[in-house]
Amino acid sequence: MCGVIGFSGVTPCVTSIFNGLKRLEYRGYDSSGIAVMADQRISVVKSKGKLNQLEPLLASLPADACVGMGHTRWATHGAPSTENAHPHSDEGISIIHNGILENYKELKIKLLEEGVSFLSETDSEVVVHLLRAELRLVHDVRKALLNVIGKLEGAYALGVMTQHEPGVIYVVKNASPIVLGIGHNENFFASDVLALLPHTNRFIFPEDGELARIVPDGVEVWDFFGKKLDKEIVSLNQEEARADKGGYRHYMLKEIHEQPAVLANTIERLVDLEAGEVRGELTGLCKLDLAAVRKIHIVACGTAFYAGLMGRYQIESFARLPVDCELASEFRYRNPCLDRSTLVIAVTQSGETADTLACIKHAKKAGCQTFALCNVLYSSVPRESDVTLYMEAGPEIGVASTKAFTSMVLNFFLMSLELARLRGVRSPEGMERALEALRILPNQVSSLMSLEARISELAGELFESGHCLFLGRGHFYPVALEGALKLKEISYIHAEGYAAGELKHGPIALIDKNMPVIAIINTCQDFEKTLSNLEEIHAREGQLIVVGQDKDRRLEDLCRYMIPCPVSPEPALQALLNVIPLQMFAYFMALHRGTDVDQPRNLAKSVTVE
Ligand code: AGP
Repeated sequence: MCGVIGFSGVTPCVTSIFNGLKRLEYRGYDSSGIAVMADQRISVVKSKGKLNQLEPLLASLPADACVGMGHTRWATHGAPSTENAHPHSDEGISIIHNGILENYKELKIKLLEEGVSFLSETDSEVVVHLLRAELRLVHDVRKALLNVIGKLEGAYALGVMTQHEPGVIYVVKNASPIVLGIGHNENFFASDVLALLPHTNRFIFPEDGELARIVPDGVEVWDFFGKKLDKEIVSLNQEEARADKGGYRHYMLKEIHEQPAVLANTIERLVDLEAGEVRGELTGLCKLDLAAVRKIHIVACGTAFYAGLMGRYQIESFARLPVDCELASEFRYRNPCLDRSTLVIAVTQSGETADTLACIKHAKKAGCQTFALCNVLYSSVPRESDVTLYMEAGPEIGVASTKAFTSMVLNFFLMSLELARLRGVRSPEGMERALEALRILPNQVSSLMSLEARISELAGELFESGHCLFLGRGHFYPVALEGALKLKEISYIHAEGYAAGELKHGPIALIDKNMPVIAIINTCQDFEKTLSNLEEIHAREGQLIVVGQDKDRRLEDLCRYMIPCPVSPEPALQALLNVIPLQMFAYFMALHRGTDVDQPRNLAKSVTVE
C-alpha cells in the first residue's frame, strides 16, 4: 500500500524522487521520506503527513546527490509518525519497504535480545538490523541481502542503499509490486510504471523471488538462489498520462467528468456499430477454451466487486452460464471447488490488489482458466492471468473509484455479448437492443453531468446526516452497494446498501424522519415491487430520494427529491447511468463536510496487503 521509488544516475535526483513520490502518493499518504547518497554518505529526511510536509525538508539534502530512494507510507505497523516513516537507516544502511513482514515480531525479539535498539514500531526496521549484522559477516551486500531474505516471511518490495557500495541500489521483490526502469546513464525502480513514465518507457518486470542491482549504467537481476537471470526489457507505448487535475478541484471530479469520453472510447474500440458486432478478438475471450467452461467465478474487492456483481447479472442473462461473484478475500480462503471447467475472472483497476492477485494464483494452481479485467498495463494480476482485457480508462488517481467502475460495467456488458456469441446463444433481438443502448450511451452519460448543481444542492441539505440507506433491486442492487461505498469512503457518513427486497427483514427498523433513503428505481426492472418498498418507507416518514426514471407520477408523490436519469433500453446500462449521480452525491457530500476527497483518511488507492 506504500509507494517506493529509487534512482541511480549521474545527475541530481532529489527533485525527480520527490516528483515520483507525488505520482505514487495515491498508494499511501500518511508519512513520507527520502534517502540520498552523496560523497559516500547517506542523508535522510522524513515527515509525518502528506508530501507537502516533506517538501520544505528537501533543501537539507545534498543537492548534487545522484542516487536515492523515496517512500510514501500507508501505516500497517506503528502509527503514522516521522519515526515510523521510511527510509529506516542505521550505520550507513538505508531501506524502504512496501508490504508486510509476517514474522517480524520473532525477528525483532531476537534482535532485541542481542542488544539492538529500534527507532520505530515498524515491521520494516528489522531488515536494517538484520542486514547490518549480515554485512559484518559476509562484507558483500548482495550476499548479505540474500541471507536476510532467507529469514523474511511475508510480502516485500524492498529498496536498499548502503555506504558499502555507493551508487548502488538493491531492489527485492516478493509478493509486492515493483518495476525497474531503464534509462540512459540512469536506472530506476518504483512501485508502478506511472511513477517512472517521465523518465523512461523501457521496463523490466521482476517476478516474486528476484533481486536486482541498479547502477547508473545497468541493471542486473538474480533469483533468490543467486542465479543470474536474463530479463526481458519491455517497451511500453503508453503515453505519459496526465497526472494533473486538468483544471478540476479534485481528481475525483475530473474522473467523474472523464466518463463520457472513456465509455465512448471503449465502445469505439470494442464495438463495430455499423456491422452490429462486438470486435470479439479484442476482448481476448476467444483465446480461452470456452467449450470446457461450465461455470464462472468473478473475484474482486470493493468497487470492483460491485462491478463484478453487475457482470454476473449480465453474463448469466446474455451468455446463460452460471456465474458466482465473490469477494476475493473470502474466495481465497474458502477452498472452492475448482478445475479446468471453471473460468475465474479477476476484476481490478490497479491490478495489484493483494487478495485478487492471490485468487488468480490459487485458481491457476487449481487448473482453472483465468481472465483479468484490468486498467493498469503490466500490473501483477494481468501478468498472472491467461488472458487480459485492458479497460483503457486512463489513470485513476482519486482513491474513490469512479471511471474505472463504469468502465468495468461496460466491459462486462461487451464481454457478455461476446460470450453469448461464442456460445451460440445470442438472440438477434437481444443484440439489436444492446447495440441501440450502446449507440446512445455516451450522450446519455454526458447529459448526466448537468445534474451537478442539483445534486450539490441536495448534498447541501443532507450533509449533516449521520447515516444513509441505499436501496435497489436486481441490476440496481449493486448500484445501491456502490453508492453506499462511495459515500462512506469519502464523506465518512455511515451508509448501507441493501437489496430493496430485504428491507422488511431488518433495515426497515432504521427508518424514521432522520433517515435519508436513496432508492434506485427504473421501469425496466421490478418497478412495482420497489415502488411498494418506497411506500413503506414513506409511511414511516423516511426521507426518500429517488434516482432513476422520473416518468411515474406515483414516485413524485412519494419522494422528497428526484434525480432523473436518461432511460436505457438495457437494464445493465441503466444501472451504469444510475451510478453516476451517486458518485456526484458522495463527492458533494464530502465537499460540504470538508473531508479530503481524493485522499480520504485511512485509505489507499492500491491495496497491496491483505
Ligand atoms: C473504491 O472506491 C475503492 N477505493 C476500493 O474499494 C477499490 O475498488 C478496491 O480496493 C479494489 O481495487 P482494485 O480495483 O484496484 O482491485
